[in-house]
Amino acid sequence: MPLSRLEKMGVNRMTRPTAAIILAAGQSTRMKSAKSKVLHEIGGRSLLAHVLATCEGLKLDRIAVVSGPDGEDVRAATEGAGALSVIQDPPLGTGHAVLAAKDAIANFKGDLVILYGDTPLIEAGTIEQMFSARADGADLVVLGFHAADAAPYGRLVMDGDQLARIVEAKDATAQERKIDFVNSGVMVADAKTLMDLLSKVTNNNANAEYYLTDVVGLANDAGLACSAIECPEEEVLGVNSRVELAAAEAALQKRLRLRAIEAGATMVAPETVFFSFDTELAPDCWIGPNVVFGPGVKVGEGAVIKSFSHLEGASIGAGAQVGPYARLRPGAKLDKDAKVGNFVEIKKAHIEEGAKVNHLTYIGDARVGAGANIGAGVITCNYDGFDKFFTDIGAGTFIGSNTSLIAPVVVEAGAYVGSGSVITKHVEEDALALTRPEFKQIKGWAAKFRARKNKSKD
Ligand code: UD1
Ligand code: CA
Repeated sequence: MPLSRLEKMGVNRMTRPTAAIILAAGQSTRMKSAKSKVLHEIGGRSLLAHVLATCEGLKLDRIAVVSGPDGEDVRAATEGAGALSVIQDPPLGTGHAVLAAKDAIANFKGDLVILYGDTPLIEAGTIEQMFSARADGADLVVLGFHAADAAPYGRLVMDGDQLARIVEAKDATAQERKIDFVNSGVMVADAKTLMDLLSKVTNNNANAEYYLTDVVGLANDAGLACSAIECPEEEVLGVNSRVELAAAEAALQKRLRLRAIEAGATMVAPETVFFSFDTELAPDCWIGPNVVFGPGVKVGEGAVIKSFSHLEGASIGAGAQVGPYARLRPGAKLDKDAKVGNFVEIKKAHIEEGAKVNHLTYIGDARVGAGANIGAGVITCNYDGFDKFFTDIGAGTFIGSNTSLIAPVVVEAGAYVGSGSVITKHVEEDALALTRPEFKQIKGWAAKFRARKNKSKD
């Protein structure tokens, strides 16, 4: 966007307050779920939370969410996010839903954007463009798109640059149905203008609903300027079913993969890597195929995450290596150059600089000091069925394979623990600790055993 345009937007945003009404009162029967549709997640965050985050990015002055009579869970999420909660009971159409928020924005003077809780992929930049078109003189701005299948959507009837009407598919003539430029539902107008127009909307249509879309015709009748802005269809993908939820997830993942690559990550098979909305990757990190990022993961510069690793709530230091087949659970913190290898699970544990946990190990509620080497099959026994206990493993220690560390326990810096030990007591600095039954051998026993067994078979 040219700078002059950005400056114009800046001026606009400083002089005109902005608010959003997010509609989320429709029934979500097609989801076949006990939970409201807008609370289903993509990229590790609810559909509604995606829309609220976009609003937050726009620094709006006010946000109201309209929920239906059964939307107790939506109201809890709305209040949790600090937005205003409005109930539409019973839901009688999109126009009726916006009117339900009339009191919530009664004393608000400025521009209003109408958004949808089930349309999570809309970009802040698109809404900025709509506010900007409004500042440039349009009284009402509608977001349209060219639909691959226009059938279910309201058609945008254009008269040159002026948007003349929106006609719902059910109410359209055969000629109007041929229009493939359709309504996303997203709309920007001055708050008072929109509410005044809405008060004139009737439910005289095929669905006997109060249509938000009718305000466009009414605005034209009142001599107001209405325009349409276009966005890619993907951005206004609505979620009405689990099939559409999966499609929205796929579209979001595509976006997150691109963002990761552009931020400097190398991915050999990006289509197999799954991100969370908040995954943070530093430049020069390398992500192998089939890696899954749950929420709350940060990856440092030059870190390597090998195939089939699953990470959530974890922080990976610069140059650290993870996987293949590693599982990092919440609270896993790897410092610079630490190594966590195959079939290793780390939970709420700090693996300090250069420490190695390379194979078949569980480290939970623990610290592994810098440069320590944890052998294959080491387990921190952190849980007794009731409480969790801490294991402190000092810097430069060597913990032999198949050791059980019964927490709470401390192994001081530089100590060695012999393989197969069960450590229940404090191990002192630079000591060797081992618990091991005495070695026993009965010469020739196996040969005799086999001979006896083979004879009894005859
Ligand atoms: C609406 C538009 C249509 C547009 C389409 C885009 C109208 C009349 N039609 O149609 O032009 O192409 O969206 O998807 O606006 N909702 C409420 N309260 C209600 C009714 C709906 O909050 O009483 C919310 C729903 O939760 C949903 C959204 O509004 O998120 C759209 O409602 P829906 O009934 O799906 O409208 P469409 O018929 O798809
Ligand atoms: Ca819809």
